[in-house]
Order: sequence, then C-alpha cells, then structure tokens
Amino acid sequence: MASRYHDIYARWKADPEGFWAEAASALDWTKKWDKVFDAGQGVYGRWFVGGETNTCANAVDRHVAAGRGGQAAIIYDSPITGKKKTYTYAELKAEVETFAAVIADQGVAKGDRVIIYMPMVPEAAFAMLACARIGAIHSVVFGGFAARELATRIDDAKPKLIVSASCGLEPGRVVAYKPLLDEAIATASHKVEKCIVVQRDEQRCDLDAGRDVDYAEAMAATKAAGRKADPVPVAATDPLYILYTSGTTGQPKGVVRDNGGHMVALHWTMHAMYGVEPGEVFWAASDVGWVVGHSYIVYAPLLAGCTTILYEGKPVGTPDAGAFWRVIEEHKVVVLFTAPTAFRAIKQRDPEGELVGHYDLSKFRTLFLAGERADPDTIKWAEARLRVPVIDHWWQTETGWAIAGNPAGLGLLKVKYGSPAVAMPGYDIQVLDDAGHAVAPGTLGNVVVKLPLPPGSLPTLWNADSRFRSAYLDEFPGYYKTADAGLMDEDGYLFIMARTDDIINVAGHRLSTGGMEEVVAEHRDVAECAVIGIHDDMKGQIPCGFIVLKHGVARPTAEIEKEVVKLVRDRIGPVAAFKTVVTVNRLPKTRSGKILRGTMQKIADKEKWNMPATIDDPAILDEIGAMLKSRGIGV
Ligand code: COA
Ligand code: AMP
Repeated sequence: MASRYHDIYARWKADPEGFWAEAASALDWTKKWDKVFDAGQGVYGRWFVGGETNTCANAVDRHVAAGRGGQAAIIYDSPITGKKKTYTYAELKAEVETFAAVIADQGVAKGDRVIIYMPMVPEAAFAMLACARIGAIHSVVFGGFAARELATRIDDAKPKLIVSASCGLEPGRVVAYKPLLDEAIATASHKVEKCIVVQRDEQRCDLDAGRDVDYAEAMAATKAAGRKADPVPVAATDPLYILYTSGTTGQPKGVVRDNGGHMVALHWTMHAMYGVEPGEVFWAASDVGWVVGHSYIVYAPLLAGCTTILYEGKPVGTPDAGAFWRVIEEHKVVVLFTAPTAFRAIKQRDPEGELVGHYDLSKFRTLFLAGERADPDTIKWAEARLRVPVIDHWWQTETGWAIAGNPAGLGLLKVKYGSPAVAMPGYDIQVLDDAGHAVAPGTLGNVVVKLPLPPGSLPTLWNADSRFRSAYLDEFPGYYKTADAGLMDEDGYLFIMARTDDIINVAGHRLSTGGMEEVVAEHRDVAECAVIGIHDDMKGQIPCGFIVLKHGVARPTAEIEKEVVKLVRDRIGPVAAFKTVVTVNRLPKTRSGKILRGTMQKIADKEKWNMPATIDDPAILDEIGAMLKSRGIGV
C-alpha cells in the first residue's frame, strides 16, 4: 500500500486547525470548543479553547455506552506474582467510578493534585482514571525513585492525597513502599493529610491511623453503599496530569498535560501511527510511571477502545527471555511498544531468538521502539526473528506522543536504519545551528519544533511558565527546543544523535547527570565531582561518577566510593543504576574552570577525541584515562 503520509502531512500543514478539529470530532465533548487554537492564550497558545470534556468518560464510559462493555479493557499480567486478571470496560467503569467516589470522600475535588506512587498493578490505572473522572490532577511517580525524589514532587505538586501500595516487586526483591512513602511525607514541607494504600498479599504494611486508608476496605464500603462518582466536565485546557521529568538540575520539571488536546492527539495516533483498530490488543511494555505508560498503557489504548496490557514483569528473567512472546501469544497482541534496551536484554540471553519459535505470534503485526535511539543491530535482530516491521519513533515526556515516526496506520514509508523517520502531522521539525539559522540537509544541529506545539504536547510546566520559557522557548525564538541534536536528510528523515544537555538515557529511563552530581557532592569527603554517561551494551548508557577527595581524607577510596554509590541509590533511587565511581586526583577543566565532561566521556567510550584547545592541564586527561583503564573502562 502506498503511504498516505505525505498527503496527510500536507493536509495538516495547510490547515492545522481543520485537521485537529476533525480529529477531535471522533470524541465526546460536553461543550464544543469556541476556538480550535487560540494563539493569545497560555505561553504559546492553547488548543480547543472553550471546549469542555472528560478524559475518563471518553476512555471508559463512551465505550460501555457504545456496546463495548463486555470487551476486555485491561489485562493485568504479572509473571512476577503469577497473577492475571482481565477487566472488561464495564468492570473498569465500576472500579473507576467507585474509586472516584472514594477519593472524593477524602476531600479531593476538581483541580486538586493526587500523587500516585505505585507498582504496575491495575489499581494504578484505576487511580489515574478516577482522578481524571472528577477533574483532579494526577502525578504518577515511578516506583524506582527514592523517598527524596518523591518528596521533591510532593513539594512541587502539593497533593491533597497520595495513592500508594504496600510494595512493589522486582525480581528477587520486594520493594517496601511504605517506608519510602513515610520518609517522603516526613521530609516534604507540604503536609499530606491522606494516603490510600493498596495492601498487596506479597507484603502487607502497617497503616497509620488517621492518615492511611485501606484501598480494598474503602472500595468495599463504597460499593456496598452503591456510591459512585460521575464524570465531571472540565475545560479542554484544564490539566489532566503532571508528570515530572529530569531537568538539568536536581529539581525535576513538572510537565503539564491538558485534557482536550491530549485525548485528541492520542486517539489520532492509535490508528494513524500504530495502525490499531478498536477491539484489538495493544501492549506497551513500560511502566505507568513513565510517559510511555501514561500515553500507551493507559490513555491512548483506552481512548481508542482497544485492550491494553498492564505487565508486571521484565523482558528477561520473568521467567526467561521468551516472556514477551508468551504475552503476545496468550493475549493476541497486535502491536508491542517497548524500549530498545528490552530487546538488547532479550538478545543477550537468547542471541539466536530461539524462544520466539516456541510461541504463536500470528496475530502480531508491528513492533514499535522508543525511549532511546534504536540501534540498527537491535532493529535488524528483531526484524529477522519476529518477521514484522520494526518501527523506531522519537518523542519526549514533554510531547506525550511521537514527534517523528514511521506511521504504520497511514502506510509504512521506507525504513532507514538509525532514523526514527519523518515528522508527524502537528510537528514542523527544523534543525538549526547555535545561532538559530537553518542548517543544510545532512548537517548536525539543534532539533527544534516550530511553535505552536500540537495538541497533547505540554502547554507549560506546573506553576512555572517562566521556567518553561527559559528551558524550552527562549534559546530559539519561535521554536520549541527539544534538547536533542540531530540531522535531517534530503528526504525529511530525521536522525537523533545526542542530547545537548546533561540528560542521559539509562535503559530507556531519562536521568540527569547534574542531579546525580548534586547528590555526590553532598558526601562529606567529596571536594569535587563529575558524572557522565558512558556506553553500556544493554542499557545504552550508564552513569559513571568521578570524585576528587577533600584534602587530608585518608580513608580507603574503595570505602568512600561504595558510600557514594549508596548515597545516589538512597537519594535518587535504584533506577539511576549508579554503580561506578572512580576516585581521581583532579578533574580536567578548561582555563575558565568548566569540567570537560564531553572529553571524559569520549575517553571512557573509546571514541576519537581531540585535546580541547582551552584545557588547563592536558596531563589530567592521561590520568583520567589511566584510572578508567584500571577499572576496565575505555580499554
Ligand atoms: N521499583 C523499584 N525498583 C525498580 C523499579 C521499580 N518500579 N524498576 C526498576 N527498579 C530497580 C531495578 O530492580 C534495578 O535495581 P538493582 O540495581 O537492585 O538491580 C534498578 O532499578 C535498575 O533497573 P533497570 O534499569 O530497569 O535495570 P534492570 O537491570 O533491572 O533491567 C531491563 C534492565 C532492560 C530489563 C529493564 O530496564 C527493562 O525492562 N526495560 C524495558 C524498557 C522500559 O521499561 N523502558 C521505559 C520507557 S519505555
Ligand atoms: P523521555 O522524556 O524519558 O521520553 O526521554 C526523551 C529523550 O529520549 C529524547 O529527548 C531523546 O533524547 C531520547 N529518545 C527517545 N526516543 C528516541 C528515539 N526513538 N531515538 C533517539 N532518541 C530518543
């Protein structure tokens, strides 16, 4: 089939408002918008201004009303606990309307924030949808973050309520959430009055009288009383959620997602990008704590009337590298979306992909990869074993959906390995030099998006319009800065090469090395430090810390390095995968005192590097190289 992509993109470009108004008409609105786009509102304009809707009603009730009540909405599949459970749309509605009443009873109303700190259990999705139902703004915090990260988010979002669980489960390890929750609440300046806790059989916890409510007990009582909450109409421009993502400091950015534009864009992507029809099974193997989980475990598949899978497991080890194929066969998955790192992990354990042959993947049509650059080796390995198109697509927490991709639903374009293909309708992508001039095709530069951003992309940061401007809009006036560097070829194919800031990508997880440096610097024996991302075959990148000890510190360096590793794990969380610290006598710097992190990274990754002209003392780079070699890095 010839791709309709070029026609559709041209149609969007000729009439963006008409394009998105048509996409919006597929959804239910309690009040139609006055203006599809109002350039005079918000930081750079707002979508569907004057419109009123409810995201939960569109994701759940609309399908029940249309006769899909008996269709599976969520399949919870947890190889880690051995549990599986399917919720039909009618059952999902019952859970969500009841939980919405439960949180309303706790005083949560439209506009209030609710933090959700949970493992991959269905109650996490119920909680998100219940907030949406009553117009409360949820903020999901990934379970792999430590108490201090949770506390930072509590202080920024100022939630009225936290929904959590007694524990999360990692292979071979139970993660007790309650101590983390208690510590975060104790350290945060904002006082959290109420928590609702899901008690999991795998490890229950004590509840604090007066503060904590047992999820199951509250649900049972509310159901018995026959009480439920109906969807509350909210403005299209009202926030649906805040999702914190790494910034260039330890202070995360609260990405705001609105209700109207978000549901319109996500609904559009399900058929246009992923090529999925209502009733089909779509699986995003991610976590609800990440943007992929928000968009493609919860909202998009449900908005589209698909069946979504909530998978509490890993690509390998739960129980083996055939876990993904088992889920695809058992639940008749048509599209899988995951991060390349998951495939690298599978490839490491089952290099020939023998386990693929043990399963019936006849329903499976397309594999989508995102979260980090999809390396050609991984794509080719997956193509050869799965015999389906493997599509790399590029996006960010900020955008909420793909900026560039190869749209299966519009008809696939030619695949160019190493490229996430072309700009999606809504995104006018340009590549600029540092002075803001467009570069020639094939030339590396700053990848930017011409304003306005499309529906679904962030309108601002939570309570921080000026940070939004300074972080994203000021450097290239009229454009949104993605902070990715890349190039575009003559055919409009984009190649994303690197971040232009201090963000690194560890197993598809976005982390700030600046944030890690702030923590390392807190160690009492550390005078100076630098954290860089170095290549890792499975995770893509892993952080590597360099420390210079304070004058006179005589303790063994190995002991101090261990403490620094523990400090980062305790403060940021295990997800940082911070396991390597190298003690050095001094750090390489420019004459003006800037640490040469880029050069250190090249040495560690065995890449070609040139002696920076501005370096203060070239000998230091030899010292760094020697220290890394002694650890087996960069050899
Ligand atoms: N709660 C608590 N701890 C968590 C956690 C959670 N929700 N998620 C991860 N962790 C812990 C892990 O147990 C691990 O701890 P450890 O240092 O004690 O081993 C640490 O955080 C690092 O986790 P991770 O980066 O996931 O590494 P891993 O070695 O456990 O697994 C992969 C590697 C590739 C299998 C895994 O990252 C994966 O499944 N990735 C899939 C892609 C994905 O989810 N991407 C997200 C965006 S699409
Ligand atoms: P996150 O906000 O966690 O989704 O991370 C977004 C960042 O991950 C992007 O800015 C890129 O640096 C990187 N990224 C995500 N998807 C891709 C991709 N397909 N190709 C290259 N980099 C990607």
